[in-house]
Amino acid sequence: MSSKLEKDAAWEGTFLSLLYRQFFLHPTPLPDSTRLEGQTAIITGANSGLGFEASRQLLQLGLSHLVIAVRSQKKGEDAVGRLRGEFPNAKIEVSVLDMADYDSIVAFTQRCKDLENIDYAILNAAMQSSKFERNEKTDHEAVFQTNYLSTALLTLLLAAIMREKKRQKSKSESSSSPARVPVLSVVGSDTMYMADVRTDGSIFEFMDDPARYAKVQQYANSKLLLMMFVSRLAEKTNPEDVIISVCNPGFTGGTSLGHDGLGNPFIDRFFLPIFTRIMARPTPVGASVYTHALLMEKEESHGSFVSDWAIKPYAPVMYTPEGRSTINRLWDETVDELGLSSSIWES
Ligand SMILES: NC(=O)c1ccc[n+]([C@@H]2O[C@H](COP(=O)([O-])OP(=O)(O)OC[C@H]3O[C@@H](n4cnc5c(N)ncnc54)[C@H](OP(=O)(O)O)[C@@H]3O)[C@@H](O)[C@H]2O)c1
Repeated sequence: MSSKLEKDAAWEGTFLSLLYRQFFLHPTPLPDSTRLEGQTAIITGANSGLGFEASRQLLQLGLSHLVIAVRSQKKGEDAVGRLRGEFPNAKIEVSVLDMADYDSIVAFTQRCKDLENIDYAILNAAMQSSKFERNEKTDHEAVFQTNYLSTALLTLLLAAIMREKKRQKSKSESSSSPARVPVLSVVGSDTMYMADVRTDGSIFEFMDDPARYAKVQQYANSKLLLMMFVSRLAEKTNPEDVIISVCNPGFTGGTSLGHDGLGNPFIDRFFLPIFTRIMARPTPVGASVYTHALLMEKEESHGSFVSDWAIKPYAPVMYTPEGRSTINRLWDETVDELGLSSSIWES
């Protein structure tokens, strides 16, 4: 479990460790017996990049029912068309979900209640932006909104549904064949090791401050907050009901993340493409961390950071008293923002 890996945390944040991870670590193959017939998965942001590739990998394992949750019906239909061509026997459907809009998230989770099972969920949708922009409805900074606040809401609502379905199933099944524990993995990032959310005041005000805004730092900070949130939620959740983790594909090419560059023409035109070509993993390799997190790590991954096909440490700050205070304040601010009672998860 990540909570026990404090001694390795400082190393994970070094550039040398990044080089080691990118060049020397390779996917652990799934056992040949891994089959997903009869099972259902939801993947957000699955019209492109890692989400699309993870969809393919689950379908290759025989997944029977896939819901791709995307903000554009048209992009979703295009992706489904490509997947249906390859996997004609699977049921693949699009469900519209805009992670910039709480109402859309609530409506999406209402529809999820009608699914017979939800065995797996990968909350993959996220963004980067070179410009500071505010969400029209909430006034929060857009990256913070999508990557953290909206993902936290979706995690809470969907995990509650998965937990309820598992409990219902356990009641109806005989004790000789216990119901499978569903797994929800939120896609984080190893950029959390370089995050810096240092404030004694409101974390939300810190994240919404235009004077502090820098593209990569804001993204990294949003992913650290996600890890903090999931670690706290997992403490409140019985892993026999639903396993909740954060997974990290590592630096991966062939996706649209960060497509608007860093705002420096030389870096954007020359340095970044070369750096990406040398350093980044191919998309199928990055996406294989998702399948690993869902299928291989089981209860050990509950509340943990799954990266490079193993359980890895949290960001160093999370082991400190300062970090623990940030986690407490983050939980309270988040529950307040989302209009939930702090006892939401206590059943
Ligand atoms: N690529 C990397 O090196 C890397 C490294 C670590 C972690 N990650 C994480 O991996 C995940 C996938 O990223 P990627 O690299 O595959 O990037 P990507 O190709 O840009 O995929 C991001 C997906 O999120 C969707 N999305 C963005 N904003 C949304 C919103 N408001 N509502 C609904 N969907 C939204 C996008 O939809 P549209 O197509 O409609 O924009 C797209 O489908 C992200 O969580 C990212 O942070 C990536």
